[in-house]
Amino acid sequence: MTVLSIGGSIINKNGIIQIDYLKRLGKLLAEYHLGIVVGGGFSARVYANAMKLLSNNEFLADECAILSTRQNAMLLIAAIGKNAYPNAVNSFAKAREIYFSNKTVVMYGTIPGITTDTDSVLLAEAIGAKKLINVSIIDGIYDKNPKEHKNARKLKALTHDELIELANKYDNRTAGTNFVFDSVAAKIAKRSNIELHFVSEDTNEIKKALDNKLHSGSVVKSNLGKLTE
Ligand code: UTP
Repeated sequence: MTVLSIGGSIINKNGIIQIDYLKRLGKLLAEYHLGIVVGGGFSARVYANAMKLLSNNEFLADECAILSTRQNAMLLIAAIGKNAYPNAVNSFAKAREIYFSNKTVVMYGTIPGITTDTDSVLLAEAIGAKKLINVSIIDGIYDKNPKEHKNARKLKALTHDELIELANKYDNRTAGTNFVFDSVAAKIAKRSNIELHFVSEDTNEIKKALDNKLHSGSVVKSNLGKLTE
């Protein structure tokens, strides 16, 4: 059993929806039975920022951003086709029902104050999945923010505790922001010993991760000892 968390930034790149990419991704995902959570990406940030300027209210900004996750989830369902349940859902109970009726389920954001990283590990817990693949524009976990530091190193393998430490550095809990992986999500992955795979949007990499093959992203497991490169 596998859960996939798809970053909204790979669906909507600076306002341009990646139709051809979505078709390829949908075709690949249609071959598997999955629990999927979709993020908000660019439009979530645009709407969250606008709502913050207008209302000065983080809760409302999150609620606005969640609507972007729903739109992206709808697009992915359309791309997957008949192997996916036709509606995007944001209830874990409903997601369980759908998953256990043998359909792929696609979820969107649930409540303000969290991110789709957290939703995805909660979905993994809800259906008993021990493996979660996080797909985003960043091709793995880095020791520093690769956008800001030229000498950032990709970590091929790390423990849940090491991920929690990195996630804590980034986490400022505000609507539309993105960090390496939400620290709450990292802690939930630890408590249920969920193995995490971080891969780029390259569909070959996603396929390798789905098929339990070696990929070029990062893996988070409970007991690895020291960080490896
Ligand atoms: P994410 O930050 O999870 O989207 O949700 P993402 O697309 O995966 O992020 P990228 O791709 O890394 O950029 C977008 C925003 O939606 C709200 C938060 O404001 C979050 O920053 N959200 C999402 C919630 O409030 N609750 C949720 O359960 C999910």
